[in-house]
Parts: sequence; structure tokens; C-alpha cells
Amino acid sequence: MKFFIDTANVEAIRRAHERGMVDGVTTNPTLVAKEGRDFRQIVEEIASFVKGPISLEVVSEDAEGMMKEARELNGWIDNAAIKIPMTWEGLKAVKMCAEEGIKTNVTLVFSPNQALLAAKAGATFVSPFIGRLDDVGHYGMQLVSDIVEIYNNYDFETEVIVASVRHPVHVYEAALIGADIVTMPPAVLDKMVNHPLTDVGIKRFLADWEKVRKVSR
Ligand code: G3P
Repeated sequence: MKFFIDTANVEAIRRAHERGMVDGVTTNPTLVAKEGRDFRQIVEEIASFVKGPISLEVVSEDAEGMMKEARELNGWIDNAAIKIPMTWEGLKAVKMCAEEGIKTNVTLVFSPNQALLAAKAGATFVSPFIGRLDDVGHYGMQLVSDIVEIYNNYDFETEVIVASVRHPVHVYEAALIGADIVTMPPAVLDKMVNHPLTDVGIKRFLADWEKVRKVSR
């Protein structure tokens, strides 16, 4: 399972990278706006140490505008994946990107049929938004399992990125389903290592080791 980090904060990505846990990065306009910095500069900094796909989102609403942005963003770095929203115009752009060899990540996916369309258009990645479905009372992870089943039925090559991840249980459930990728905020990755019994266990081992030290030469 690949881990992507869902942030535009370079320091947070670097921290996760130093832990050996970054297979890629996803950004979106909201995450970039939070940083209050030049977009291209952020992207180039991330690409200086992240070699896996880095998702960069277009903001045009028509296919032609999206393509113009896609070509430009794709020229910034070697490992861009162009994030394109799930609309008919977006799907046209995804198809054109596929023809030009530009990687895409179809975003704002909330139904299995949307994911099916993305795969047929030739998307490299599809991003079902789990947390936002949970927020409105749906079981978001059901969408992931439906998409994985549909893609397996037809051997689609599009990879599933579980997005809008809010807590470690989302990661655990996505892994049980066999999703290709989970993109998580840095705070979720931080929490994944924690277990109170691990902390208690370390304390006890260290205390007992003190006893060994006292009787050792
Ligand atoms: O990158 C897109 C996605 O992960 C957004 O998450 O928490 O804004 O629903 P959220």
C-alpha cells in the first residue's frame, strides 16, 4: 500500500519523508491557500526530495482551460499528476492528458459510477473522498470497496487513492479493502504509530534494564 501525504506544507512532508513514509503527495487549492506562499515555489521544494507522484490541481472549469493548466503544471516538475475535478469537461481533459502522457488524478469522486467514468477516460488515479461522505451520514469506505471491486472486475489500471482521510481507522479500513493508496494529513500518519501499551511496554523494559545494569560489570 502506498502512502501519500495530503498537504502543501513542505516541512510536514519532509518530516514524513525522513520517516520513510512518503510515496507521493497530494495538494488541492485549499491546502495550498493555507500556506500563503507561491504555488510553484512550494511544488519545486516538494519535488526536490519527493520522487513519487505529486498531485497539482487545475482550477479551470472547461476542458481547454484545464489542458492549458495541465501542460503548464506538468512542465514544472518531472513527477506531476494533474488533479482534475469529476465533471464532463474534466473527463475530456483526462482523456486528452492520457493521450499526451500526462498523469491525472480525478478528484471529488463520491460515487462508483463517477469512478467508472474516470477509469474509462484513462485516469492514472481516482480520489474518492471518504471523510466528506462520512460527514453527510454515508459510510464513505463502502465507496472505496465498490470502486476496488469494479476496477478488479475489468482490470482497469487506474489506481485508487483513498482521500479525505480523517483518522487512522480510515487507513486501517482502506488497507483491509486493498486500496492502492491512502493520502493522509500528516497528523493522521503521526497518530498511526501510537499505542498506549507500546508506551507502557517501553517504560517497563527500560525500568527492568536498569536492574540488569545494576548487577552487571
Ligand atoms: O486532497 C483532497 C482531500 O483529501 C480533502 O480532504 O479533509 O478537505 O475533506 P478534506
